[in-house]
Amino acid sequence: MHTPLDGQIALVTGGSSGIGAGVAKALADAGAHVAINYHSHAEPAEKLAAEIEALGGQAFAVAGDVSDEAQTNAMFDAVIQRFGTVDIVVANSGLQKDAKLAAMTLDDWRTVIDTNLTGQFLTARRAVREFERRGPRPVSKALGKIICMSSVHEVIPWAGHVNYAASKGGIQMMMKTLAQELAPQRIRVNSIAPGAIRTPINKDAWDTQEALDRLLTLIPYGRVGEVDDIGRAAVWLASDDSDYVVGTTLFVDGGMTLYPGFADNG
Ligand code: NAI
Ligand code: BGC
Repeated sequence: MHTPLDGQIALVTGGSSGIGAGVAKALADAGAHVAINYHSHAEPAEKLAAEIEALGGQAFAVAGDVSDEAQTNAMFDAVIQRFGTVDIVVANSGLQKDAKLAAMTLDDWRTVIDTNLTGQFLTARRAVREFERRGPRPVSKALGKIICMSSVHEVIPWAGHVNYAASKGGIQMMMKTLAQELAPQRIRVNSIAPGAIRTPINKDAWDTQEALDRLLTLIPYGRVGEVDDIGRAAVWLASDDSDYVVGTTLFVDGGMTLYPGFADNG
């Protein structure tokens, strides 16, 4: 088995569902000890941790609302208490509250920005404070690695989802700015921008044949993505195999960002 993350500690926010769960499993398979953050329901996170442990890994579930400063800090404190430190942080938590602009409430705007963008800021800030506190470790060439879960919607405008698209556009510039700021300390900050991945967040887009057919017109590679596709990308971005990758968005999207509407038009 390829275990490039042996001896490293990872935290995955929103790790009990969808992409976060796939990433947590993949990091554990690659040798990392994994803290699985959940927002409000402990059970799925605890079940995933038990599955990882049954396979010989180490994992535990940790509560925390990433849009809340005190809870985010407490989540890191719990990880450090359990595993000693953290080397890899995947800022994955996110949600959608979709509406056309005229119908979008300020509350829905704020909830999405607070979770998707401010949540990643709070997560990254606490991670960097920990990397700086504990100094270099022999397990990795970098002092620490932060992976922001962005989206193809950091570049593709998305009508009816202005809060979500703005949050992901914000992640693009936050990630690059942090990467530039932190690279001299050998902290690597990068993003993954998934295309349409089969998870609860977009169930309406793939759970009927009609919806799936419509979705597939946007994906040149001809299939919906699976959480393992993102898990493998996260392992690579977290490992020394990508040691010279700094400030990059890795699109894992089956070609969704290739303007498929132009394939036989324009
Ligand atoms: P999901 O709904 O299965 O998972 C979202 C996770 O975020 C859940 O575990 C949820 O509990 C957690 N979360 C929400 N609010 C939170 C908060 N305040 N504090 C802590 N955790 C919170 O959806 P999915 O698809 O796995 O989404 C994960 C990330 O991937 C999100 O950032 C999403 O924007 C992004 N993404 C998803 C794509 C897809 O097609 N599924 C495509 C591109 C990006
Ligand atoms: C969204 C999904 C959507 C995908 C592709 C993601 O960021 O969360 O709902 O299917 O982008 O449009």
